[in-house]
Amino acid sequence: MLWPLVYYLFGIFGFILLYEYYQRNIAKQKALLDFLRSLDTFPQGPLAISNKKPFEKIKQEIASYFYFQRLHVIFGVDFSASNEWQGLKTFNGQSLHTTQPKNINPYQKAISQLGLIFEEIFPCKIKYSSFGFGDENTKDYSFFPVVASGEEFDSHQKILDAYLKQTEHVNLSGPTEYTPIIQKLISQGTLSPRDFTMLVIITDELKVSSENKTLVKSLRTLANLPNVCLLVIGVGDGPWGKLSYEEHHIREEVFARIDKKKMPKESAQSKIFYDNFHFVSHNNFLVKQDKLDTENYFGRAVLRKLPTQLKQAYRHDEHRTKPQD
Ligand SMILES: *[C@@H]1O[C@H](CO)[C@@H](O)[C@H](O)[C@H]1NC(C)=O
Ligand SMILES: *[C@@H]1O[C@H](CO)[C@@H](O)[C@H](O)[C@H]1NC(C)=O
Repeated sequence: MLWPLVYYLFGIFGFILLYEYYQRNIAKQKALLDFLRSLDTFPQGPLAISNKKPFEKIKQEIASYFYFQRLHVIFGVDFSASNEWQGLKTFNGQSLHTTQPKNINPYQKAISQLGLIFEEIFPCKIKYSSFGFGDENTKDYSFFPVVASGEEFDSHQKILDAYLKQTEHVNLSGPTEYTPIIQKLISQGTLSPRDFTMLVIITDELKVSSENKTLVKSLRTLANLPNVCLLVIGVGDGPWGKLSYEEHHIREEVFARIDKKKMPKESAQSKIFYDNFHFVSHNNFLVKQDKLDTENYFGRAVLRKLPTQLKQAYRHDEHRTKPQD
């Protein structure tokens, strides 16, 4: 007498599962459709976004669309062993982490230039923290705080001081792996939706490839978040020639294989993806005429994708605090 009831319950359960599955797929397709729409509205990728946009213009756009309460900047410092020989041509043959009073190393240079640029550009409080990876203790599976227990500071100078103190005691190792620290960015972005978090990975080797599924997966998760971005700054000998080529390929993989024909026509709930990672070589900006020039060029290269992301985020966030537009 009980069996029909059991069958019936199983039936209902099965139906619920199928329904869930169907719903989820619909949501996925909608997300893709919205992403395609955003491609029409917003220039995408390194080819479409103008290289020529003046720094002043980028500054203005960031100031008018940055509606987050705070900016968290996390400097991720690469302590892999390759730093020892990656300064052969560009740092007088010394290890890129060598610290000397008169000859500041590329990591120090990048942190101080970026700190100045951020402080000039962002119309909000900036909190800095820093983590190292690729050393003997964390290798490719974790990262460690460069400053005390990882707390945040109001000035990038504190990060520089801490880096100076720390770097002498770190044993370089490797391999270089960005995924753990990118995971940190994702969790911080998810935990503080009203703040913007930027991870700046400074590294001597571009250890990213569009074939690395783990990395592509993390970047895809990242692309869901309007309030985070990843900058990878290459320092030392490189080679850095293929940086934007790699970025382009990874972008294609991250936003992979969208078949326009299979898209449903209507889209109610908007779910968009953000093109929020960017690779820049620091060397390109060390040869300019003067300091101001260098910083303008560097700032432009580093931040040129951000206005697009901020506009996109701004338009899709109903809870934004600063009414504008
Ligand atoms: C680096 O290596 C030396 C020698 O093996 C060791 O004494 C030191 O504790 C290591 N430093 C760190 C930060 O692990
Ligand atoms: C891809 O990433 C994983 C871990 O995230 C790493 O172990 C592996 O070596 C990487 N593969 C390539 C081809 O870079």
